Amino acid sequence: MENAKYLRKRLVELLDTTEEALRDLETSGLLAPFGGPRDSYSPAVLSSYRRALNVYPKRQLARRQLFLNFKGGTGKTSLSVSYAHRLAELGHRVLLVDLDSQGHASKCVGFEAEECEVTLFDVLVKSRPVREVAVPTILDELHLLPSNLRMSTVDLSLMPMTNRERRMQRALDAVVEDYDFVIMDAPPSFGLLNLNALIACHDLIVPVLPDFLSFHGLKLLFETLDDLAEDMDHRLDRIFIAINQYNPTTTIARTARGALEQHYPEHILPMVIRQCTKFAQASGEGVPIFLFDPSSKAAEDIDALIAHTRLEPKVSEAHVDTNTVAQAVGSTQSTVDPRPTGAMDTPEAGATAAMTASSPPCPAAGTGGTNLGHANPHTELDSASGQDEARTDQAARNRTHSTSQEAVSTAKESIS
Ligand SMILES: Nc1ncnc2c1ncn2[C@@H]1O[C@H](COP(=O)(O)OP(=O)(O)O)[C@@H](O)[C@H]1O
Ligand SMILES: [Mg+2]
Repeated sequence: MENAKYLRKRLVELLDTTEEALRDLETSGLLAPFGGPRDSYSPAVLSSYRRALNVYPKRQLARRQLFLNFKGGTGKTSLSVSYAHRLAELGHRVLLVDLDSQGHASKCVGFEAEECEVTLFDVLVKSRPVREVAVPTILDELHLLPSNLRMSTVDLSLMPMTNRERRMQRALDAVVEDYDFVIMDAPPSFGLLNLNALIACHDLIVPVLPDFLSFHGLKLLFETLDDLAEDMDHRLDRIFIAINQYNPTTTIARTARGALEQHYPEHILPMVIRQCTKFAQASGEGVPIFLFDPSSKAAEDIDALIAHTRLEPKVSEAHVDTNTVAQAVGSTQSTVDPRPTGAMDTPEAGATAAMTASSPPCPAAGTGGTNLGHANPHTELDSASGQDEARTDQAARNRTHSTSQEAVSTAKESIS
């Protein structure tokens, strides 16, 4: 990691300048004190140049995005770390939150997790402020909330606490102005830790592999979200399903992609992250792909992922409709159920969709309002609509639970 460098050409692109302009700045201008023109630069120099030139993208209140799938090995860590690092090298202020006791995300940005004295555990359990625990990384713009093995007991420690599901949200609320993005890398587990992450985030990004086992993990995840909306009164702004390790030359990958597009049309991203040996090598060496090989397929695909997911949701996109979730869950009662999603439509389902469509949008971060608290349209519905919606949600839940028990058991078994 110490040897990871940006080539000069790359630095010119990242600073959005020209070779000549950079040379002038380095020889006699603002950048002259940093050692002059050279062939390659450490990430720290990129950050110093940015600061000296004051070239940053537009600031916004922290948008929180969680990479989660209850299945292991789908690319949560590889994608979240590359995503966070890429945003930071473009000049956004990013907090990467490692939720996994394995500490892989921490390692990928240069930290031996076991050597970190304070971690996310201290934030969640001991109420240590994020500002005291977050550490700067190779890029000044990228901070890390590390995790290590101590996190494996976090659920037990949280259990007796008041407001135990909202401790992450509270901790991150305190730094909403410090970051443009908070990117969270979740472990593949159920429990209070991931519940905290789900409640704290605005957007969920679900990496899936293009195989049929993925359907089990997705079914379980959507059921959990359905429960979250029902029991905790919490709705995510958006859910993106990102196909990872896609290899178009295999029939299984193409078929699985088609089936995912059919079952989750609301959520599946139009782009994929292709299988890429360089990506695997980069994570093996603990170097973000944009430093390892910025011209690789994976780097190109992460850029496409960011282009689709980083922006504030449009008003019409805000909030995930529980009914859509219920449809998606119901429509995957067998792994390759060929029925179109619309086959689950019912009068109740239509009622929920109509009510949600007419619900006021969540105030968006950076647009004059605040994104804290994730304003819930339910609270602003009149009571009659609220009752209708409650009935509709219950109907959807009943349907979901009666059709998916078997798949959930399978999914639980398939979680690694
Ligand atoms: N697009 C990809 N192409 C090739 N290998 C990948 C790709 N995405 C992830 N991997 C590899 O797959 C393995 C699992 O990825 P990881 O990010 O650790 O998954 P998770 O965090 O979901 O458990 C790692 O060895 C990683 O290098
Ligand atoms: Mg991981």
